[in-house]
Amino acid sequence: MADMSPAGSSAPVHTSTPWQRAATGANLLAPDGKLGVTIFEEMTTLAMSTGAINLGQGFPDEDGPAEMKAAAQAAIAEGANQYAPGKGIPQLREAVAHHQERFYGLAPDPLTEVVITTGATEAIAASLLAFVQPGDEVLTFEPFYDSYGAIIGLAGATHVTAPLLAPDFQPDLDALERAFSHRTRVVLLNNPHNPMGSVLTREALAKVVELATKYDAIIVSDEVYEHLTFGVAHLPVATLPGAAERTITISSAGKTFSFTGWKIGWLSGPAELVAAARTVKQFLSYSSGTPFQSAVAVGLALPDSFYAEIAGTLQHKRDILAEGLRAAGFGVYIPSGTYFINVDTAPLGISDAVDLARRLPDLVGVAAIPVPVFCHQEGAERTRSLLRFAFCKKTEVLQEAASRLATLKDRL
Ligand SMILES: Cc1ncc(COP(=O)(O)O)c(C=O)c1O
Repeated sequence: MADMSPAGSSAPVHTSTPWQRAATGANLLAPDGKLGVTIFEEMTTLAMSTGAINLGQGFPDEDGPAEMKAAAQAAIAEGANQYAPGKGIPQLREAVAHHQERFYGLAPDPLTEVVITTGATEAIAASLLAFVQPGDEVLTFEPFYDSYGAIIGLAGATHVTAPLLAPDFQPDLDALERAFSHRTRVVLLNNPHNPMGSVLTREALAKVVELATKYDAIIVSDEVYEHLTFGVAHLPVATLPGAAERTITISSAGKTFSFTGWKIGWLSGPAELVAAARTVKQFLSYSSGTPFQSAVAVGLALPDSFYAEIAGTLQHKRDILAEGLRAAGFGVYIPSGTYFINVDTAPLGISDAVDLARRLPDLVGVAAIPVPVFCHQEGAERTRSLLRFAFCKKTEVLQEAASRLATLKDRL
């Protein structure tokens, strides 16, 4: 999980600053009106000071494929160390186009319909800043990934949400319909979904396309967990009838290849939309990660067995942590995708997950993130007792976390 926090800043907030608009969306404002630190920052600091196992932040503790590391090293040695072209090196744009065709039958033109970005984060930012004007509405599901609120705030738009509902965290389709309006400019989807771990059904995606078409909204689809699904196939919204012409699809190398620090992402879609996002992207970072771009092109060409194995390994990790959480007395929601698992603390007699998250490192030496921080006020009430754990960690780390959590009941 990226941390969007202006960590430690105590600058006063003026209502019209971009920071304040971003902060409002990202739940960064402290009650005194000062910029605070995010819960991610707070939990990581707490995990470090208590020596707790950090299952809060979602980054893997093992590197991805050796051939990708070798490719990055070779690219550096061979002198690929200056600015890449603004839209990305040709090999990677071609590899992205080929990947979209190989897995989904989509065939973006690598010249005009693919842009390489500084992680998915920049692709999301560039898309929203390109498509949205102050006063427009951007619709996301709730809970939502933290950078969405921040970028919608920076764009000066209004963030409207539709809930994902327990137990399978699919959208409430009636609420989704009610959330659309003639001011909806962008529907920002996240599928598979962080933090809820759901993979959206075809029915839910079809409803999004139907409503986006009715209200002439653009779909921006963040699919960074596309290869991390368990027993269900990921379905890009762009493959649904009528969707491709209004959809920007976003992904990144961070999650698929366990190289979150490389920050190589991409977006693809119709040339006109891609050109608009690319125009903004030029002034965000221009370009980045030249040697990593060629290494990611190598990764995207890895055989199907690689993709099957990452999902299989992660599913095994999910199951280890799920068992530990169940044994600890939580109500466990088994995710179909991503590397996050959510639990209900209510069976342990706890109604406030934020409070438990703050105590958990001291109680049992494990850190997690409360789901309400991914919500606006109403959603925070609905998810009040939910906690999110990351399972993209070594098996022995998850086993140790499970045995620590087993002592929770006795320590509450
Ligand atoms: C849903 C979602 N989108 C985007 C990102 C950021 O991706 P990147 O590191 O490629 O910028 C994350 C990282 O946690 C994520 O969970």
